Amino acid sequence: QLLYMGLLLVLIHVAVPLIYYIIILTYARRPWLINSINVNDGELPAVSIIIPTYNEENMILGKLDNILEQNYPLDKIQLIISDSSSDNTQVKVEEWLSRHRGVNLSYIKGPRMGKGHALNKALEAASGSIIVTTDADSLWVKDSLINAVKWLSNEQVGLVSCVKVPRGGGSTEDAYRRLYNTLRIGESKIHSTVVFHGELLAVKGDLIRSIGGFPTDIGADDSYTGVRVASMGLRAVIPENVVCMEYVPSNGYSRWRVRRAQHLLQSFMKSIKLPKPSNYKPIYYTEAYIHLMNPWLLPIGAILLLASGSLWAYALIAVGLVLLVWSPFRAWVTQQFILMYAMVRNLWTKE
Ligand code: GDD
Ligand code: MN
Repeated sequence: QLLYMGLLLVLIHVAVPLIYYIIILTYARRPWLINSINVNDGELPAVSIIIPTYNEENMILGKLDNILEQNYPLDKIQLIISDSSSDNTQVKVEEWLSRHRGVNLSYIKGPRMGKGHALNKALEAASGSIIVTTDADSLWVKDSLINAVKWLSNEQVGLVSCVKVPRGGGSTEDAYRRLYNTLRIGESKIHSTVVFHGELLAVKGDLIRSIGGFPTDIGADDSYTGVRVASMGLRAVIPENVVCMEYVPSNGYSRWRVRRAQHLLQSFMKSIKLPKPSNYKPIYYTEAYIHLMNPWLLPIGAILLLASGSLWAYALIAVGLVLLVWSPFRAWVTQQFILMYAMVRNLWTKE
């Protein structure tokens, strides 16, 4: 009995995400049913680009240069730096501004109260009809800004975020990202995805104001805001032509993964009760299951298999261990343990 129970749990653990992935993959390969709208340069909307910064003296100059390289008309861009640094970030910004006098840049200084809070402070000063938030430690691939704006020109679309290309992190991170980006795009083609990225999050200004700005009580202000918008019936999408690069930290990599996972789980917990449009429900609830419950079936199943004492069970576990040399499988298993640890850790710290 233990053998069959264990087998069943492991089978469910593997089959649900696999089947889901295959279904989403078929959608990811189909054309979009909604489109981005071509806008003449002269009619592009004004955008307010918010960069929250906490001790980003090493990143901020490259970040500001990268934004100017986007080819968006400069007179349509308002930059807002919402800073809580104790390092030289402010000095660097002022120095950069003295070299770029034509740029409309507002610098806001406030106490460190978290990223969501910094975004909301900046939102009060934002004049653009489109709000774009972006982390200092990320870069945009060329034309991502204008592409995001064109998607938002479709009245069905409320929010746009980016596909992510990691810089550093190695083959495990690469394998994980490939799978992950396919899911984001496929889900977006059906209705909306469930994970959104602070590296580039573009949202209609009146929309973000109508929901009271960004949440300040959880880490994943980005993902929660996207799910909130999708729950209102608007599309919150990640298209393939909006692309960010993010630096993957070389030290503290595991801690960084755990923190990300904690934030994402917080977003699921906070958004699970929101009423959702019917096309979005299967995506949202399958993902919620895959993140919150499915990971636990793996260790429980493995323990039952071991406890059964059956040779078949030992053989299966041995096969699983050997498969760990295959990087996509290793990435998957690692992610399961990160999710479980993150869930437990959320019980005592939200950071
Ligand atoms: N002003 C201010 N105050 N800025 C902050 C604060 C704060 O208390 N905390 C973080 N920031 C800034 C950072 O300087 C950076 O530009 C951006 O917010 C993101 O912070 P990171 O420290 O780089 O966060 P991360 O990479 O671990 O988090 C990622 O995932 C989060 C959700 O889990 C990012 O994508 C975040 O945007 C995202 O919310
Ligand atoms: Mn970061």
